[in-house]
Amino acid sequence: MSRQNKKQICLADTLLLFLLLCFFCYSSSSQKICPNCGLLKVPYPLSTNPNCGDTDYTLHCDTHSQKLYFDALNGSSYPVLKINSETQKLVIQTQPWLPNSCTTQDFPVSEGLWLNQTLPFNISSSNTIFIFNCSPRLFVSPLNCTTSSLCHLYLENSSRVDPTRALQCASSINPCCTFIAGGLPSAYKIRLHASGCRAFRSIIHLDKEKPASQWEEGVEIQWDPPPEPVCKTQLECSFTSKCLPTSKKGISRCLCKTHYYWDHVLGVCLQKRKNLKSGLTIKITIGVAVFFAVAVVMTTVTVRKSRKIRQKAKRADAVMEVVDRQLVGLEPSGQVMASVKLFCKLALACLREKRGERPTMKDVVQELLSIIEIMNQEEVSYEASVELEII
Ligand SMILES: *[C@@H]1O[C@H](CO)[C@@H](O)[C@H](O)[C@H]1NC(C)=O
Ligand SMILES: *[C@@H]1O[C@H](CO)[C@@H](O)[C@H](O)[C@H]1NC(C)=O
Ligand SMILES: *[C@@H]1O[C@H](CO)[C@@H](O)[C@H](O)[C@H]1NC(C)=O
Ligand SMILES: *[C@@H]1O[C@H](CO)[C@@H](O)[C@H](O)[C@H]1NC(C)=O
Ligand SMILES: *[C@@H]1O[C@H](CO)[C@@H](O)[C@H](O)[C@H]1NC(C)=O
Repeated sequence: MSRQNKKQICLADTLLLFLLLCFFCYSSSSQKICPNCGLLKVPYPLSTNPNCGDTDYTLHCDTHSQKLYFDALNGSSYPVLKINSETQKLVIQTQPWLPNSCTTQDFPVSEGLWLNQTLPFNISSSNTIFIFNCSPRLFVSPLNCTTSSLCHLYLENSSRVDPTRALQCASSINPCCTFIAGGLPSAYKIRLHASGCRAFRSIIHLDKEKPASQWEEGVEIQWDPPPEPVCKTQLECSFTSKCLPTSKKGISRCLCKTHYYWDHVLGVCLQKRKNLKSGLTIKITIGVAVFFAVAVVMTTVTVRKSRKIRQKAKRADAVMEVVDRQLVGLEPSGQVMASVKLFCKLALACLREKRGERPTMKDVVQELLSIIEIMNQEEVSYEASVELEII
């Protein structure tokens, strides 16, 4: 069979096969992503139990209420309202008021919101913080505690505070004040104290032009990009990384080998690039080319290994049989699984919307070559030539 012929036969089955493969790799990679908590998805690296996500990024899912909580220091927990894994941010709800006073529940429990500074979370600078029921000494602080401070607008016009409480929250003796979070120390704590203030509220991306009733309330927390995955043995790592102990006792991670760097978006080690310039057109071309290359390579591998089966059966049946035998029936080895996963990840990464998030042509070629190397040593030269031909 000539190479050209082979390609044509492959094309019809390519899409179906590729979709099946992607479905397969997603269903198996989902083991490390935590299950939903109620209606909220818990994306990697967030973790609700030791068997999923990255445990440095632990949240807690209350089994009874099926609500997700962000646990801060000294015993205060805040319900998680929403999570955006693309921007690595989540929004938590501030605590309820104590009855008949301008005090929030976290004032007596934990003196406000304190984050553990050794964990990868901090309070973003998109938060405008209002602190209420403050001591008069706040008048001489650098915070804006004037009568034109935006905290008054929140109290009077957001319709989120009843008028009696609004009077307790700000007076000529006990002011309310406004500041922007995110600097030090306000990236890690919003402190409430008897000699400071006794309640706080936060608005995300405050827009002064909008009426106060439309301000979005909540505290936006951002997390650091996840580091390399935790591992116990080298088998859990790709060949571009090594399972090595980290500075944290008893924790090993798949650390990238020299000349490779950790790409947390793709979730793989990529070769360090020398040349960063490459235009949008090239990237789109690569995206399309890679998608096809991946599909053709996978199909070619499959077809070659199963030529005899295919000759007997009808085409549609054969594809299913091939997929079954290759992936389901034979209990795929860790290597095959790993490479199938990497294929799908890479192809999807190439289709990302944002330029900066797509791998460069060099990365892509490098990755493809590496993946093929994992899959089958003897097929390396052939597959590499197929895919370079296409690109
Ligand atoms: C809250 O926890 C921090 C760190 O453990 C501690 O320094 C602080 O004193 C605690 N505050 C209260 C009110 O317990
Ligand atoms: C902060 O987090 C680290 C790492 O998980 C943990 O060892 C430490 O006990 C935490 N500190 C507090 C005060 O909870
Ligand atoms: C306080 O905030 C208000 C509203 O943003 C502003 O008009 C005023 O100039 C600020 N005052 C000080 C002292 O920063
Ligand atoms: C609240 O809205 C009313 C009516 O629009 C306005 O007169 C008042 O000044 C606003 N309050 C503050 C603190 O800006
Ligand atoms: C907060 O986290 C972000 C994202 O990881 C980081 O860029 C920023 O430097 C952190 N801010 C502080 C004050 O640590």
